[in-house]
This record gives sequence, structure tokens and C-alpha cells, in this order.
Amino acid sequence: MIGRLNHVAIVVPDLGAAVTRYRDVLGAAVSAPAALPEHGVTTVFVDLPNTRIELLHPLGSDSPVAKFLDRNPDGGMHHVCYEVQDILAARDRLRAAGARVLGDGTPKTGAHGKPVLFLHPKDFCGTLVELEQV
Ligand code: CO
Repeated sequence: MIGRLNHVAIVVPDLGAAVTRYRDVLGAAVSAPAALPEHGVTTVFVDLPNTRIELLHPLGSDSPVAKFLDRNPDGGMHHVCYEVQDILAARDRLRAAGARVLGDGTPKTGAHGKPVLFLHPKDFCGTLVELEQV
């Protein structure tokens, strides 16, 4: 059911420092920051030949990644995003298999303007999983 790895997301305490690290030290192509108020994050995408890295920084007072930074002050890996062809069919299949879909199961619009859902880390080897319809 899942397809390509769309991105790996990393929460960073300092977005500017993270951009410098990826662009100037690692020599990667890095996007401009984009604010996603609906998700409580500012994102920067690092384009790699075979996938992307999503740098996440808290936006607003109740950002879901603020708690992550409290527990991991240096930042760290936050989620992996797999592509699916039909996100509602994927959601229904996962629920039928007993996996927990976060929120009310209604896809939100993700960083690329496409529908996304998140799956409970306890059901996927301790890793938060994002599904993005492509
Ligand atoms: Co993501």
C-alpha cells in the first residue's frame, strides 16, 4: 500500500542554524521557510536526489512540536512520510487492521498542499508516520 518515502522530518531548535548546516555544510538545496499555522510549524525542505528532509520548527503557542523540543532540546527525528495513492482507502485499511489514526481521521492539507494523516507511533515501531496522498 505505501509507496515512496516522501520525506523524513527533523525538529530543530534554530531554523536558521539548521538551514546553514544543510545548505552550507552539507551542500544541499534548501527551500525558503513556509509557515503552516494549521499544523503549528514552520517548515523548510531540503531537496535530496531521492527524497526530502523536512526541517520543523514550532509556530504559535500550542505547536505540537514544542513539547518534542522540550523533551529533545537539540532537536531530533520527528516522523517519516510515506506516499499513498488514496489516503481515505489507506485510512480505512489501517483502521480495519487496528492501527490508530491521529485526530478524527479527516485528512489535513500538508506542507505540499496535499492531504495528509498521521498514525500513532505505538502502532508503528515507535515512529510517528505521516501518510501523504500523491
Ligand atoms: Co511531514
